[in-house]
Amino acid sequence: MSKKDRKRIALITGASSGLGRCFVRQIGERYPSLQEIWVIARRRERLESLRKELAFKTPGIKLRILELDLSEQTSFAVLSACFREECPRLRLLVNAAGLGHAGRIGEQQLDEICEIIDVNCRALMAVTRICLPYLEKGSRVIELASGSAFAPQPGFAAYAASKACVLSFSRALQEELRPLGILVTAVCPGPVRTEFFRAGGISLSPVKKKFLADPEQVVRRALSDSAKGRALSVYGFPMRLFYLAAGVLPQGFIARASSLVLLKK
Ligand SMILES: NC(=O)c1ccc[n+]([C@@H]2O[C@H](COP(=O)([O-])OP(=O)(O)OC[C@H]3O[C@@H](n4cnc5c(N)ncnc54)[C@H](OP(=O)(O)O)[C@@H]3O)[C@@H](O)[C@H]2O)c1
Repeated sequence: MSKKDRKRIALITGASSGLGRCFVRQIGERYPSLQEIWVIARRRERLESLRKELAFKTPGIKLRILELDLSEQTSFAVLSACFREECPRLRLLVNAAGLGHAGRIGEQQLDEICEIIDVNCRALMAVTRICLPYLEKGSRVIELASGSAFAPQPGFAAYAASKACVLSFSRALQEELRPLGILVTAVCPGPVRTEFFRAGGISLSPVKKKFLADPEQVVRRALSDSAKGRALSVYGFPMRLFYLAAGVLPQGFIARASSLVLLKK
């Protein structure tokens, strides 16, 4: 298939709610030359309603729904087959599927811990790997990490560790893909107003409630940082301050200090 016959697409995981959904909307508006946006999540009805919205706002772009559970290995085979069949030019990949469960490790269910690692780390790396042959010069990859990646978080340990994994992966990938002209950005927001907390059964502390960011703004910043080729996108002054502090203070000190705040009953 010649280059001009191949569709120009974006792929967004976690598109059924929160940040992923905002990415779909904003990418549709910002990049009208795309022919299709492929979206992944488990809740088909949410993706169908997004398709209706997009058909109205950006009629030139078709939404292709891939109803997949990214905690299942079989989903990777389905996605690989779609790419092999269509051989699209992937201009933008956004890995936004993710989840968290709070609580001391000893109080968490084994399934909860495994799900965090399966979706936040294993699926993110697998989807990225599947997509690599279809990226080209000028393509961009956006990996959703979190401010939790900057330091250990007692009471949210598995989640914070999964995001440290995403951050490390993204930074290394950025260097591997730089010679090919492909840019990788790790997005590290603090708490954002989405379904994330409800989905994970997490009650927000009054401190975090104060700093809840607007998802549209977090995504706008992420797309702008990605367009500038920045390896890291950190939204908001408090989170940038935390990023700087986590770079200079010993991690053990931060873990101890957070435990005094976060594990207090
Ligand atoms: N909200 C925050 O405070 C915050 C802060 C920093 C980083 N983040 C990160 O940002 C990303 C997006 O989170 P959000 O705030 O937008 O949360 P959200 O509103 O709960 O959205 C999570 C998305 O992930 C999808 N997902 C979860 N498990 C999945 C699975 N097994 N298979 C396929 N899709 C799955 C969900 O779709 P279905 O349920 O339909 O499958 C949903 O679309 C996550 O990686 C999160 O860790 C969030």
